[in-house]
Amino acid sequence: MAYPDQWLSELLSKSDIVSVVSSYVDLKPKGHRLWGLCPVHGEKTASFSVSPDRQLYYCFGCHIGGSVIQFIMDVEHMTFPEAVEHLANRAGMAMPEEVNDAAMQRDRAKRERLAEACKLAARFYMKTLLGEQGASGRAYLKKRGITSESVKRFGIGYAPAEWEALKRYLGEKGYSPEELVEAGLLVKNDQSGRTYDAYRGRVIFPIIAANGRVIGFGARVLNNEEKPKYINTGDTLLYNKRNNLYGLNLQKSGKLNDLVMVEGYTDVIGLFEAGVTNAVASLGTALTQQQARLLKRYVSNVYIAYDGDAAGQNATIRGLDILTAEGLSVRVIVFPNGQDPDEFVRKNGKEGFDRLKEDALALNAFKLEAMARNFSMEKENEREQYAMDACRFIATLSPVERERYYLELSKKTGYSLETLRAQGESARPLDRQQPVTTRKEQLTASRRRSANEMESERARAESALLFHMLQSRAALNLAKERDLEKLFSDEGLRVFARALVNANARGEEPNLPLILSGMEKYDAERVSAAFKEEAVCAEPEKAAKDCLCRIERCEMAEKIEDIKRELSEPSLTAGKRAELLKQMQTLNLQMRGLN
Ligand code: UTP
Ligand code: MN
Repeated sequence: MAYPDQWLSELLSKSDIVSVVSSYVDLKPKGHRLWGLCPVHGEKTASFSVSPDRQLYYCFGCHIGGSVIQFIMDVEHMTFPEAVEHLANRAGMAMPEEVNDAAMQRDRAKRERLAEACKLAARFYMKTLLGEQGASGRAYLKKRGITSESVKRFGIGYAPAEWEALKRYLGEKGYSPEELVEAGLLVKNDQSGRTYDAYRGRVIFPIIAANGRVIGFGARVLNNEEKPKYINTGDTLLYNKRNNLYGLNLQKSGKLNDLVMVEGYTDVIGLFEAGVTNAVASLGTALTQQQARLLKRYVSNVYIAYDGDAAGQNATIRGLDILTAEGLSVRVIVFPNGQDPDEFVRKNGKEGFDRLKEDALALNAFKLEAMARNFSMEKENEREQYAMDACRFIATLSPVERERYYLELSKKTGYSLETLRAQGESARPLDRQQPVTTRKEQLTASRRRSANEMESERARAESALLFHMLQSRAALNLAKERDLEKLFSDEGLRVFARALVNANARGEEPNLPLILSGMEKYDAERVSAAFKEEAVCAEPEKAAKDCLCRIERCEMAEKIEDIKRELSEPSLTAGKRAELLKQMQTLNLQMRGLN
């Protein structure tokens, strides 16, 4: 549903946000804003704010925000068209004929077309799996115990071991190689300019968004020798791994008690086959804030069930902090013997899994447990060291938690409660944020923390950049020279940045509430959050430059993390390892050069 821009701007100008909100909320001025009790989340102190200048609202408590239209959607629980009609009635305006903005239409048409190509590709892979060429794929799935029911439910397919099978198939349907490269279905050789199928001779797991659309793919090798094990769709107009979770399309919000976060495609599938139908996968990347927020739309309780190996356990600690920071209540399921959920549940069934789930550890208990894993309680000096480290950690907790964990620690180590308490009180409490474990862990802790901080550092840098782009044309021009699609990993900020640049190209002042009104609710919230700071910057261009640097640095840090992950693969060839190390070195050098 789209309305003519002119009509919508008139509606917005006749629906002053202060007067609309005032009929729901008692507003009082303070600073540049008006404040009141949030009408959506019950509260006793005012964290809901309205900015009359920008015609936006934002709640610092529950993070809702946007234009006056989104406000009506929030308080009246209306859809976008309903809210528009509601405000039109209030303003005494007749509803317009539906008209479409040309640029928006083009953009939408392009997404539609890429989505259609992905859908056709998914069907092609599915058909191939069931046909003559799919024999090896079928044999592989059978060997792993993946049933034909799962094949249907997850839309699993097979990509023929040919260079141009999909290219030919979709070419006949009118898709150009360029479009298909853009959809991530073909890749282009930079030197020869030749395009060919991105996935060949692999089992295909389509990644399906919550709205049921195929947006990307994971492609697994059939033998474990070939590397990499999985090839995944990179960033496209439709797909960004940071913003999506595998398996979320099978979940229904409102009906769930909790979700189980796993690492991989096959974990979701294996659990589903065993009857655990509420698992979603972060697809091997460090969990992102966007993914945490996605989870939050469905549930408030999350179980992390990452692989039992060291890599999985480290990722768990990172994930814990990101999820808790978003206000989710998190518990950790630990699989024995380094198993992953798929392996575990195939051996122990749903009952086994449910038992582990019941025993899932709370955040702090998990951290203590992880700490203990590095010591042997049989050896006197190690037991002593563990007790001291653990006390230092427990000392940072709330008194009630302290009571509980000293008791557990006492059982585990044999030291008396009095001794442990005294030890805890004498120890200099650690930084609360720091999930510290052993000395070796202390070294890696700073690195681990940095990955976590990178995540929010990037989000902060993106928000700040958008803020400067709005404030200053010079900052806008700086950002415009970059590829906005890559610069903003946050979908909402990206859409908004694009709109700012477009308005600027037309020589117009951006109409904030108008732009926001055209955005998805969740994206508008992200943008409102980016504008929550009041401080006006004296040198926006310089500040924007700084933001660009910060974003670039985060990007490199992320690449380095990816390389580290590949390096931890035990079956890596010496040649590949050397190549990766070289890449890492180059990145490190570049990163240093950025300051
Ligand atoms: P795992 O190596 O644990 O794979 O990586 P898995 O999911 O258990 O897969 P199977 O059971 O061996 O087939 C977890 C996730 O990390 C991503 C994938 O999303 C995978 O599901 N990954 C892993 C990659 O993207 N590329 C890789 O080369 C390896
Ligand atoms: Mn795994």
